[in-house]
Amino acid sequence: MSSQPPIAPGQLTEPLEIAPADWRKPDVYQLITSLVVPRPIAWVSTVAPTGHRNLAPYSYFSLVADHPPHVAFSSIGEKDTLRNIRATGEFVINIADQSLLKQLDATGSHFDAEVDEFGEVGLTPAPSVRVRPDRVQEARAHLECRVAAIHPVGNGNLVVGEVVHVHVEPEVWRDGRVDSTLLDPVLRLSRCYGRLSTEVTEEEEPAPHVFT
Ligand SMILES: Cc1cc2nc3c(=O)[nH]c(=O)nc-3n(C[C@H](O)[C@H](O)[C@H](O)COP(=O)(O)O)c2cc1C
Repeated sequence: MSSQPPIAPGQLTEPLEIAPADWRKPDVYQLITSLVVPRPIAWVSTVAPTGHRNLAPYSYFSLVADHPPHVAFSSIGEKDTLRNIRATGEFVINIADQSLLKQLDATGSHFDAEVDEFGEVGLTPAPSVRVRPDRVQEARAHLECRVAAIHPVGNGNLVVGEVVHVHVEPEVWRDGRVDSTLLDPVLRLSRCYGRLSTEVTEEEEPAPHVFT
């Protein structure tokens, strides 16, 4: 008889030491997504070869290069977003602020490929400048991307995109840069969403940091 894998304890009476391989999939998901926080959210718009628009949130998302800038997100399994990117090579990362939280969350539900999530959740599609997928007009910043690589990693597919065009609304710009607190992006926490605090540990950098 095979032994039942341990589940996450309700309370810890001693430090947790665990190999993910020893735990059930949902428990590992809960553990790891509560440790890697807060996560920014790529609200990814794509277009299918048929012309159907698609929009979905991805919080396994980060910046991976800055010259030229590249971003990456991971699709767990094959989803419409990934299929569209494989087929067309283009996508837009819409940066959602707190006023768009409900719509962002709603686009995380499953919709058939033919359904236009923009219309479904009441968002306005606006033409992008350098790529075919529309961007979300209500978002105040956008990264238009061309795919650079797609790598399978574990149960994920890491999509790396070169940012070929950036759009930023004046209202989130201050002193030569995007002001994070004005941008007010939606963040992903363990079971819920979060927002940036206006309390920052070091407001002024002594000099701009550039990784070399
Ligand atoms: C806030 C949030 C973050 C999400 N992050 C991811 C992610 O990083 N990777 C992933 O595969 N799915 C993620 N999902 C689930 C997808 O958004 C969901 O499966 C969606 O239906 C995919 O849509 P698509 O088939 O149109 O691409 C997330 C959902 C929410 C609500």
